[in-house]
Amino acid sequence: PAEKKTASLASAGQLRIVIVGHVDHGKSTFVGRLLHDTDSLPTGKYEAIQASCRKRGVDFEYAFLMDALQSERDQNITIDTAQIWFRTPKRQYVIIDAPGHKEFIKNMVTGAAQADAAFLLIAANEGVQEQSRRHGTLLSLLGLKQVVVLVNKMDLVGYDQTVFDRIEAEYRAFLKGLGVEPLAFVPMSAREGANVAHQTDALGWFQGRTVLDQLDQFQAPLKPTAAALRFPIQDVYRFDHRRILGGRIESGSVKVGDTLVFYPGGKSSTVASIERWSAPAADGAVAGESVGLTLSEQIFVERGHIATHKESPPVQSHEVQARVFWLGKQDLVKGKRYKLKLATQEAEVQVKEIRSVLDSDSLDGKGAAELVRRNEVAELVLASRTPIAFDNNDLFTQTGRFVLVDGFDMAGGGIIFGHAYTDPGHVSTDIFYNQGAVTVPEREQLKGHKGAVLWFTGLSGSGKSTVANALERELTRQGVHSYQLDGDNLRFGLNRDLGFGEEDRKENIRRAGEVALLFAGGANVVIASLISPFRADRDRVRQLAREAGVAFLEVFVDAPLALCERRDPKGLYGKARKGEIAQFTGISSPYEAPEKPELTLKTGEQTVEACVVAAIDALRPLIRPKK
Ligand code: ADX
Repeated sequence: PAEKKTASLASAGQLRIVIVGHVDHGKSTFVGRLLHDTDSLPTGKYEAIQASCRKRGVDFEYAFLMDALQSERDQNITIDTAQIWFRTPKRQYVIIDAPGHKEFIKNMVTGAAQADAAFLLIAANEGVQEQSRRHGTLLSLLGLKQVVVLVNKMDLVGYDQTVFDRIEAEYRAFLKGLGVEPLAFVPMSAREGANVAHQTDALGWFQGRTVLDQLDQFQAPLKPTAAALRFPIQDVYRFDHRRILGGRIESGSVKVGDTLVFYPGGKSSTVASIERWSAPAADGAVAGESVGLTLSEQIFVERGHIATHKESPPVQSHEVQARVFWLGKQDLVKGKRYKLKLATQEAEVQVKEIRSVLDSDSLDGKGAAELVRRNEVAELVLASRTPIAFDNNDLFTQTGRFVLVDGFDMAGGGIIFGHAYTDPGHVSTDIFYNQGAVTVPEREQLKGHKGAVLWFTGLSGSGKSTVANALERELTRQGVHSYQLDGDNLRFGLNRDLGFGEEDRKENIRRAGEVALLFAGGANVVIASLISPFRADRDRVRQLAREAGVAFLEVFVDAPLALCERRDPKGLYGKARKGEIAQFTGISSPYEAPEKPELTLKTGEQTVEACVVAAIDALRPLIRPKK
């Protein structure tokens, strides 16, 4: 049945959707229709409203039904978001029904009710209007990526395909400019039930899915237990000699014996035991549980610290960039100080910059400003004297949002975005990632393909440079932007301070990998050709590429040592055999062949041209642009 539940009850596995549209575009009719067609209405409700309509001599409207449900809900309303639940055979859904933009934005940025996906309604008889454009702007501002556009009221335009096609073309182009790419456009009539749960003959020309089928295509968010550990410390209790760190696991899981790192600060210790208040101790705990941890080595940890595993640290910084919804009676002012509360942390922050402001009602936007008024949404930079630990909101909800307190009042809520996760072993925390003004998709469009890294590894003399040169030649001929990073060449400049010991080679590969990813991020195909003899060093670059979302192909340029030695293009094997070069790979220093390379080129058996063809065949599908 449709019922109201509080946000905290919303658990994983269900999908939270928001329906954005002008009132006249049939929002409540659509919600009523969805509930009816999925059998989610309270028993007898539909019939009761039908009967009362008959008695009053008016036509049944789903809007009446929704009004009736609404007034029942209003009687015990505790938060200003009404959540309506329904399910399809696939899963459960919650409609986050915000009465207006203001409430919707407020819910999104304060985390009261965050949506995973959105339906955007446009009335077929009115077409794309200013309102529809603002709604698109709103979705892009809030970072909602899963969007389906519903062209409603198709019955009022005689189910005319040309009307639908025109709206789709116009609105798709508009959204594209905002960086929003809808999953689909669906023609329908909520009132008539056309193409909501069932197809209709009148829309027979439409080849796509019904609304309900389309709904099931949205991707569910990651379950919090599958994510990395975030354990904000709520309190430190002392019992006898033991100190117990109490808190709620917001995401991930923890086991006895795990090494934890505490942010801000980065101190670490090992979990000695996991205590529960009303259950026997166990050696593991997962997201959603409130537990107490004891540590094997005592370190200074206090309320506000966030415990994580060392592989997945949060961002630690003196600056936070966020979208803030301002509710304060007094304006938010640039330069003024506020108290920021994030998970269990508290910090004093100063408004360093107000990058842009948007009115949440009219969705009128303006650029940089000196102040933010009540009910405006602003993109801010907040600075703190002490470092703060946090996450980007799209990765972790609980540690990716905060509230701002002005005096004693909760005056604003914010979501954090766009921070780079850096190595916890950073020499300084006072560095800030500059996002740049040109996006990766723009660069891809400019170049006509995506970036990638082809990592050539193999013995000296195996043919890495020979194949890389020929490959670069051919890619250029084909109009693919490529750039070769050659180990020897890098050692003339960037890596001139490095030798051939294990540590230096590790650093050599780290630098080459970072540079390769910078180039690839600019939509270039990078051909890195370095001996890179150690598996772990190559795997680290592979991992970095995965995190950056860049395709990475390990190419094993495989030639037997005897052959390389016979070729000896630089005369180095000869010297190495005579003991004139120390730690020479293959002779006096090991080479660890790749275990699962994406591609192996046997230069002793294949021609250079055959190697180039094989490399391009492997590369092509990975750099194909999105259409
Ligand atoms: S890596 O091992 O750190 O990946 P890289 O590819 O940068 O090596 O450099 C290898 C090149 O350095 C070889 O092609 C060769 O010309 C030169 N070189 C000089 N000394 C050595 C050595 N001890 N081992 C391997 N290559 C060497």
